[in-house]
Formats: sequence, structure tokens, C-alpha cells
Amino acid sequence: MTQPSNRVFSGVQPTGNLHLGNYLGAIRKFVALQNSHECIYCVVDLHAVTVWQDPAELGKNIREVTAAFLASGIDPRKHIVFNQSQIAQHAELAWVFNCVARMGWLNRMTQFKEKAGKDKENASVGLFSYPTLMAADILLYRATHVPVGDDQKQHLELTRDIAAKFNNDFSKQITAQGHGESYFPQTEPIIEGPATRIMSLRDGAKKMSKSDPSDLSRITLTDDADTIAKKIRKAKTDPAPLPETLEELKARPEADNLVGIYAALAETGKAEILSEFAGKEFSAFKPALAELAVEKLAPISAEMTRWMDDPTSVDAVLRDGADRARAIAEETMKEVKAIIGFLS
Ligand code: TRP
Repeated sequence: MTQPSNRVFSGVQPTGNLHLGNYLGAIRKFVALQNSHECIYCVVDLHAVTVWQDPAELGKNIREVTAAFLASGIDPRKHIVFNQSQIAQHAELAWVFNCVARMGWLNRMTQFKEKAGKDKENASVGLFSYPTLMAADILLYRATHVPVGDDQKQHLELTRDIAAKFNNDFSKQITAQGHGESYFPQTEPIIEGPATRIMSLRDGAKKMSKSDPSDLSRITLTDDADTIAKKIRKAKTDPAPLPETLEELKARPEADNLVGIYAALAETGKAEILSEFAGKEFSAFKPALAELAVEKLAPISAEMTRWMDDPTSVDAVLRDGADRARAIAEETMKEVKAIIGFLS
């Protein structure tokens, strides 16, 4: 297979409660990249099960992410939308990468340290080797670009290190088998722009999260118009009117977050929003934000609900996506096995 020149790969974990942060921070960018790149978007359930997932919920959550992709405007005919565990080659290539990556590299991963917490002895082995599976996702398709949030940058650097070491360890075979100088590309991150760190509506110091016990802390992608408006009405604020400058805004986390959400939804900057609302009270700002949020999100939530009510159609999209992803994955894995020296 020849190395594609502009192929995007990204993944979202099916862990439930998809929210505004997932949409603005990831999915909306996936949608935009469709015009300039060949895109492969994956529901990464193998990653999800590195921590406990309720088997009774997992299937619904896989369909939820798929529905969010489709409802947001990802076109599964022009691009590929599929579910990781349906393609065996992800786990197969991850094993190869477990043998390429070094313990020292993985020991440096900050996400593992955060997720494992104090009780590292009790974390799953999968949680530790999570980044080698992520590298396999990306390199199985020899993707050139990956849109990622800040928290995934280190994993992408590891992916580049794994690609480089594989290319180096097997350079003789790679050249001899007609792949040129290197087999895997040095994948570039597409890093998120400003204002995509969406914080909790109840606490401007915490990220908006699927696991926050308060449903009022997040706007989910299945909230209807009334619920969206209600959550914005109830969002925590401070008593002062909106400030003139970004600097003053920074010192007020809840105000900063709401202005950031407004700016992200309006696809502009916070400064532009302040120039419109400086000196105004939240009693004026919040209804404007609610109106904008409903305008942008309610159509997505309606479409998403429609897909969620039709699991047969979602499954059909995933099956078709898996067929096309598999064609690429099989070819890569065949070449990788030959490079390593496995018998075919
Ligand atoms: N680790 C990513 C996250 O939690 C999800 C992911 C898995 C991913 N495989 C990927 C993202 C490949 C980009 C490319 O957000």
C-alpha cells in the first residue's frame, strides 16, 4: 500500500454522557476536516475497557458515539466511521508495538499516572499499555494527521517514537520489500485552537465531565432545547457584570467559561464576545447564550435522538465502515508481518 498523503484518524471512547466539551473539543473538528482530508473516525471501545465498563451499557455507548458523529455531520459514505473492536488488526498491531515500545517510554506517560491514581498495582495492564494501542489505531491506517486535545499530545509523541523505532529496527527489510526509507509515517497532531477547554457549568475550575454527579454541570449532546436553556440559566456565575478585558475575565473562571462557550459556538474569539457584552449583566448574557446554544445544538440533539432510536441503522453504518477499514488494516498487517519476518 502506498503511504497516503493526507489521511486523518481519530477516536472517541464510548464511555457515555457525551457532552458539549466532546463536541467542541473533538467532534466539531472532525466534521471540518472532511473537506480537506480523507478521514477515519473510530469508536474506541478497546480503549474504553482499560477501565471497567458495564457490559449492559457498552453497546448503547458505542452507538451513542456513532450517533454523535453522524448527527454532527460526519459523512460515513465519503469517509469511514467504524468500531475498533470489530477490526482484529488493532489488537494485533498493538502487540507488535508492545514489543517495539520500551518500558521507560510508557513509564513517562502522565495520563496513566493520573488514571491509575495511587493504587498503581491494581490498574489493568491494558491501562498501562493504552498508548501502544493508540499508536496501532493511527499507524494501522498510516494516518498523517490526528486531531487531538492537549491531553493526548504525549500519546501522539509516543506514536511517532514507535513509528521511528519500527522503521529503524526493520530498515533493511522495509527497503528490501519495496517500501522505501520508512514504512510508518511521522504522524502530525492537529492541535485544538483556543476556547475548546469547556469547564463544568457548576465549577469553572473543573473540566466538563461525563462522570460529574451533577447533570447540571454539563450540556449533553442528547439534551433537548428546554434542557439546554435550563442548564445555562442555572449555570454558576459571579455577581459582577461582564468585564472589558480578557485579563479581567481570566480571574473569573465561571464567567470565562461561559464567554468561552459563547465564542466557541459562534466560532469567534472571546474578545469579540466581550466587545459585545462588556458591562452587561449575566441576566442579559445568559439568555443570549441559551439562544445561541439551542440554535447550534438542538438540531444535533434531535438528529442524535433519531439515530439512537434506530440502532439497526447505526449498526449498519458501523458494519459498512468496518468492511472498508478492514480492507486497509488487513493490507497493513500483512506488510508488517512480512517486515518482521513472520510466515504468511
Ligand atoms: N486516547 C484518546 C482519548 O482518550 C482516544 C483515542 C484512541 C484516540 N485512539 C486514538 C485519539 C487514536 C486519536 C487517535 O481521547
